Amino acid sequence: MSRHARHLDRSGPSNPFPGLKALERKLGREVPHRLGSNEGLDMPHQALKARFGDEVATLARAYGDAEAMDVRQRLNALLGTPLEALIIDAGADSLMALALRTLCDPDSTVIASAGTYPTFRYFAEGQGCRLVEVDYHDAPSVLAPDLDALADRAVRDNARVVYLANPDNPSGHLHSDADILTLRDALPEDCTLLLDEAYHDFRDDADAPAAGEVWPGVVRLRTFSKAHGLAGLRIGYAIAEPALIEVMHKVRIHYAVSSLALAAAETVLDHPEETTQHVRDVIARREALAGHLRVLGADVPPSATNFIAVRLPEAELAARIHRELLEAGTLVHRPAHPALGHVLRISTLEDALAPGRLAALERALEAQH
Ligand SMILES: Cc1ncc(COP(=O)(O)O)c(C=O)c1O
Repeated sequence: MSRHARHLDRSGPSNPFPGLKALERKLGREVPHRLGSNEGLDMPHQALKARFGDEVATLARAYGDAEAMDVRQRLNALLGTPLEALIIDAGADSLMALALRTLCDPDSTVIASAGTYPTFRYFAEGQGCRLVEVDYHDAPSVLAPDLDALADRAVRDNARVVYLANPDNPSGHLHSDADILTLRDALPEDCTLLLDEAYHDFRDDADAPAAGEVWPGVVRLRTFSKAHGLAGLRIGYAIAEPALIEVMHKVRIHYAVSSLALAAAETVLDHPEETTQHVRDVIARREALAGHLRVLGADVPPSATNFIAVRLPEAELAARIHRELLEAGTLVHRPAHPALGHVLRISTLEDALAPGRLAALERALEAQH
């Protein structure tokens, strides 16, 4: 049974412009005179150079490597993931859209948790999929995607894709790998688990061998936007079975990742110590903020991300605090989905710990206890 969109079962389409880097790899030598791809190679833009320096101006002039070999090689060295199981695209969001394009026919059913990272819903609906949502497990000490409910619904509705963010946004909840694989095993045979691991790097076990494993039936999405600080450059990667990666390449926008983003990802991967330190700092701030708010009586479920979720007793109270914080110049996130309207998500930046920054929240908590 095919796991992907019907029209991708036949051969092609194939990338008409694999690019100079791919050709050089195939020939095993450099091609120094590039007169074949109609770029603006003879026009270093002086204003660009003045503003961003020689290197950016140089990178800007040429198409990047559509196969992102240098980034994939670094990921292979870091994670042990085979090169053919890695695909690079313009962020986890782009990879999510790419996975939907690859996996779904119009009217395919896809399943997600009601109130999870809303971009999945946005892309699924834009793709003509039928979205079915299941409730979170929202109980006294836990706010988490409900894996049993996701699996049950996927079976009942013969779903093509189940979306799960792990760690989750906005709850911050982390399910164990064993639980994820149990979920995968419970899905229909032709249903793929789209596992959004945008916050993977904030997990305590982010370096464990399982981090780079290819899990059959699962597309694992990662990003350089969070722990590596490259959100504005748009780059991320997915890990999946090579056969599925091949199909994804049929419908990928081949130069969506800029040469600058590729070079930036190579640079941050070459300097892992900075990322490690950043992650350590984020975790320390996250625990400090969660601890501070819990002392005031807040319900802050454990988070494995760079944010915390504060669960309020009612959506109206969350809306009021959100509004008051905004009036004071501070934007926190309140999910638009009514299922999680009682949650506020706060990024654990240094600024979140500044005295008085969350005064409206602190006042509301004190008023309750
Ligand atoms: C769960 C989740 N997935 C994906 C993304 C987007 O990642 P990217 O910037 O790589 O597109 C985010 C960003 O907030 C996120 O929270």
